[in-house]
Amino acid sequence: MLPEKQLFNNGSFLFIFVLVYNNPMSTKIIAGNWKMNPVTLKDVKSTFAGIKRSVSKVRGVSVLICPPFIYLPELKKMAMGGKVEVGAQDVSDKDQGAQTGSVSAYMVRDLGVKSTIIGHSERRAGGDTDEIVNQKVLTALTAGLKVILCIGEKVRDEKGQYLEALQKQLEKALAGFPVKLADRLIVAYEPVWAIGKNATGVETPDGFLHNKIFIRKVLSGILGKKKALAVPVLYGGSANAQNAGDFLGAGQADGLLVGRDSLNPKNFAEIIKIASLSK
Ligand code: 13P
Repeated sequence: MLPEKQLFNNGSFLFIFVLVYNNPMSTKIIAGNWKMNPVTLKDVKSTFAGIKRSVSKVRGVSVLICPPFIYLPELKKMAMGGKVEVGAQDVSDKDQGAQTGSVSAYMVRDLGVKSTIIGHSERRAGGDTDEIVNQKVLTALTAGLKVILCIGEKVRDEKGQYLEALQKQLEKALAGFPVKLADRLIVAYEPVWAIGKNATGVETPDGFLHNKIFIRKVLSGILGKKKALAVPVLYGGSANAQNAGDFLGAGQADGLLVGRDSLNPKNFAEIIKIASLSK
């Protein structure tokens, strides 16, 4: 398989001959989305400690754990001096005020946390529209956070109509995105049907690569080609220690957003090790 950059250029009929492909994103991003787990601080601490210990000697991988909000202060302290960063799973679309139960991007940033997931399919299922996702993205950026924007279709159809859903999600989420902040954007492609223990199918590395190139084309319409090529595009949806090598290798993923396997320190450490060895 040709490198993604060449496929991208060929596909858009811009025949820029890249003889030596210099991947600007050789540092892979391995992010763990803990969702609403674990349910005790004791388990949170032991899971995080296990991950921190096992990655202490790993190079060339950026490791992020996104726990429930309530654990961020404790894990931020535990992360000090190590290689694992912590991020949020979501932020409010508002800065502050009468928003019972919500957490502001400014509060997250004030803790010293630098990034947040936005637009996860489980938040979208809970009521986050494209417009709300867009407001969340803009608020998080203004607060100074990096954004891991999740997109993904609910169903995959043979004719490729699902690509329209991806395009719409990206264009709406990134409306008004300040191009100069493009280095604070990460996209996580997570086909909804491939997520979690009730997944109805399995994404393939080739399928991911195809969609990654499509995502880049849409991003280049929003950010310009140069900046779009530098946005990491991660794969998520039952990513695990068994398939990580294929998604990072043949799939040319710039990283992975891992759910269940990020709660298992041994498996997550294995994924990180695989990422450190993949070019
Ligand atoms: P799983 O890895 O458990 O399928 O979850 C994926 C996900 O939703 C990560 O954000």
